[in-house]
Amino acid sequence: MKQLKRIKISEALQLTSFGDEVNIKGWVRTRRGNKNVGFVALNDGSTIKNIQIVIDISRFGEEFLKPITTGACLNVNGTLVESQGQGQSVEIQATEIEIFGEADPAVYPLQKKGHSLEFLREIAHLRPRTNTFGAIFRMRHHMSYAIHKFFNDKGFYYFHTPIITASDAEGAGSMFGVTTLDADNPPRDEQGKTDFSHDFFGMQTNLTVSGQLEGELGAMALGAIYTFGPTFRAENSNTPRHLAEFWMIEPEVAFFDNNDNMDLAEEFLKYLIQYALDHCMEDIEFLAKMYDNELIDRLKFVVENDFVRLTYTEGVKILEESAQKFEFPVYWGADLQSEHERYLVEKHFKRPVILTDYPKEIKSFYMKQNDDGKTVRAMDVLFPKIGEIIGGSEREADYDKLLHRVEETGMSKEPIWWYLETRKFGTAPHAGFGLGFERLMLFITGMANIRDVIPFPRTPNNAEF
Ligand code: 4AD
Ligand code: MG
Repeated sequence: MKQLKRIKISEALQLTSFGDEVNIKGWVRTRRGNKNVGFVALNDGSTIKNIQIVIDISRFGEEFLKPITTGACLNVNGTLVESQGQGQSVEIQATEIEIFGEADPAVYPLQKKGHSLEFLREIAHLRPRTNTFGAIFRMRHHMSYAIHKFFNDKGFYYFHTPIITASDAEGAGSMFGVTTLDADNPPRDEQGKTDFSHDFFGMQTNLTVSGQLEGELGAMALGAIYTFGPTFRAENSNTPRHLAEFWMIEPEVAFFDNNDNMDLAEEFLKYLIQYALDHCMEDIEFLAKMYDNELIDRLKFVVENDFVRLTYTEGVKILEESAQKFEFPVYWGADLQSEHERYLVEKHFKRPVILTDYPKEIKSFYMKQNDDGKTVRAMDVLFPKIGEIIGGSEREADYDKLLHRVEETGMSKEPIWWYLETRKFGTAPHAGFGLGFERLMLFITGMANIRDVIPFPRTPNNAEF
């Protein structure tokens, strides 16, 4: 085969140098045709669009075409020609074809017809080859880049926090253990409990639920930092919005109060959604057409409108006074469920909402305590279709108050002695928040299940791929 430099399909579709010889490589999406000519739609992941390869059967022979079926991988030399067909400007008149790999239609699970998202989850190793998941995973990339760009342009530093940790940042106790001890026969202490002093790190360790505590150490030196990494929660939540392994972005800023924090969160979310509209429109249009025809309007609406800000207490009052029947009861002190959050956003205010000043009992130990003795300077951003997309707060900067809260919640202070020292040495007001990356991806793609916006989801009883 003649050696030509490969060009990506995204580039080839832009070319107008008709008559040129080009090389294209990709996977067959469909093949159709008649006795004289075959038409192959080829995709290489560089765009949701396929390029049409026109195969003259008198040149290649009928037998040659047989293994060119959905899923096969081809290496194609051909002449760039102006397309006669509708909806495409460029096609390739094949001169030479090499079949890199066949995909026997008797066993290849992805066929031309549409497959359900549930079925595609069972073949997570192949689903990136579908239009839907190609679009979603390209968008995941663009949004990751946009996150770094947003913070970099604002002078924030990307701060790497550990994945293995001895502390429980959220105090919720739903952590995955990390150990090299023999599960069948661990060393035991005098009480018969597992003795982690013999473990790899000389102490009990877990996968982190959040980079925040170490992020605060960064903010107390570098001024403004953000983390962007995987986090792990062993809660048995089988919902369309929870993963056991998800990615979180956590900015932390010295000298910020909770209002600055809310301003940053709102600006950040609007920036990311606008970035998606500016850079991912082909993929968004495809997903809108397939799954959610209100997607584009919803994205634009969020960018164009102010978020409503009100206190938890005011929010609970609205929920109590609504005639709405909820599955979970609402009362002051209750942890709001997604149905409550979505009622406020979708039915009552009809726009994103930031709720502040939650009861301290339902929030983490590190949040700044209000003077009322009952509430903390928390802020949760609630989104249509999602519920909570961001959780954050101003932090308790006072050593005595923080220590008191740690003791009140029954946490042990040994594993976080270093965290407490930030309040002893040069403490400062500061605030931050966490954005769940997959919750953002749910919103931007319009997908309904969080398992469909991460390549290899981790949920209870599911870690195969
Ligand atoms: O509200 P959370 O638990 O807050 C924290 O972890 C803080 N340390 C953040 C901070 O202040 N630096 O989690 C933050 C966000 C949630 O709003 C949600 O978007 C997402 O993380 N999240 C999850 N996403 C997917 N699956 C889960 N199990 C999630 N738990 C939280
Ligand atoms: Mg939260």
